[in-house]
Amino acid sequence: MSAEATHPLSPDSPPRSALITGAAGYLGSTLAHHLVAEGWSVIGLDDLSNGHAESLPLSVPLIRGDVRDPEALSAALGRFGRAPEVVFHLAGLIAVGESMQMPARYHSVNVGGTAALIEAAMEAGVEAIVQASSAAVLAPTPAPDIRLDESARLAPESPYGETKVIAEETLAAAVEIGRLSGASLRLFNLAGSAYGCAERHHPETHLIPLAIAAARRQREALSLFGDDFPTPDGTCLRDYVHIEDVVHAFAAAARRVLDRQRSGWAGYDVFHVGSGVGHSVREVIAMVEAVVGHDVPFVMKPRRLGDTAALIADPTRLGRTLGIHPSRDLERMVRDAAALPIAARGR
Ligand code: UFG
Repeated sequence: MSAEATHPLSPDSPPRSALITGAAGYLGSTLAHHLVAEGWSVIGLDDLSNGHAESLPLSVPLIRGDVRDPEALSAALGRFGRAPEVVFHLAGLIAVGESMQMPARYHSVNVGGTAALIEAAMEAGVEAIVQASSAAVLAPTPAPDIRLDESARLAPESPYGETKVIAEETLAAAVEIGRLSGASLRLFNLAGSAYGCAERHHPETHLIPLAIAAARRQREALSLFGDDFPTPDGTCLRDYVHIEDVVHAFAAAARRVLDRQRSGWAGYDVFHVGSGVGHSVREVIAMVEAVVGHDVPFVMKPRRLGDTAALIADPTRLGRTLGIHPSRDLERMVRDAAALPIAARGR
């Protein structure tokens, strides 16, 4: 079954309600559109430090605030007049390299924000939390072609990854108490676009938007961080997964967790959200060149601190349990990313 074939709410099922933290970001706004299309009632919370309010559907009210701020959380959780059934917790800092420079800030936002959110959600009576975790929690693989499943060892190589391990543990511990269920989705490399929501981080640090902007001469040459990794072409292998497959995974995880909570099973789940296919940085550059029709000027740079040689998901559990089989390939991701404006500024 493809991701498109997952079950939306049936016409006679009541609308489900959700709060999305980090709602104005690339993932948050795409998820908001997807949930609205499925018939959910959605509220957004975002401090707009890296998000775009105009990316959200008009029907989604946005509360501007920090996820660590109890008042902002209380306003967001009370907005429906009762607690939302599900919180999709996406707010956080996401750049591996940046986290090496500002570890305390990453801990404050990602760990502090998750703790504050869980506490407020439990107090308000939220039934389920589905949070964005990351492949960055995983230990480096001994060989580049290994696909990592949910039992893979955790040993993050960056402060960013450390904060995500703690966030996972915090949610798992909260679920133990029995008042809500939860899931952590370990995201591999999100790419592409859906519902017109572009990837527009400031500064942009991600490979695909930077390579597209470089090919279009909208920014300086791409820095290629390291070609001495133990991989076939010496550049890092990553598992790029289309954002549309990812938002289907979030919705499916929420349905599963909520249904099981209501049937008396308070449980905690982890899913690896990737395509199962690895692409090197050089392969991504070649695809961008083919799609945009211009070369990508690049300069070789030393390895970026915190980067690991290979991160590729084994998405078997995602398919078997949630019915999600990410199938949109790298060409589709680059085409969809290139179809929307890319932030021209960046590092
Ligand atoms: N890269 C470059 N030049 C750049 C940007 C990136 O060579 O200007 C390389 C990186 O070194 C890496 C690859 O391209 O090898 C992908 O880098 P990204 O910055 O696009 O993505 P990351 O793999 O560093 O991180 C992303 C998310 C994390 C998540 C991780 C999981 O930002 O939140 O994927 O795989 F944890």
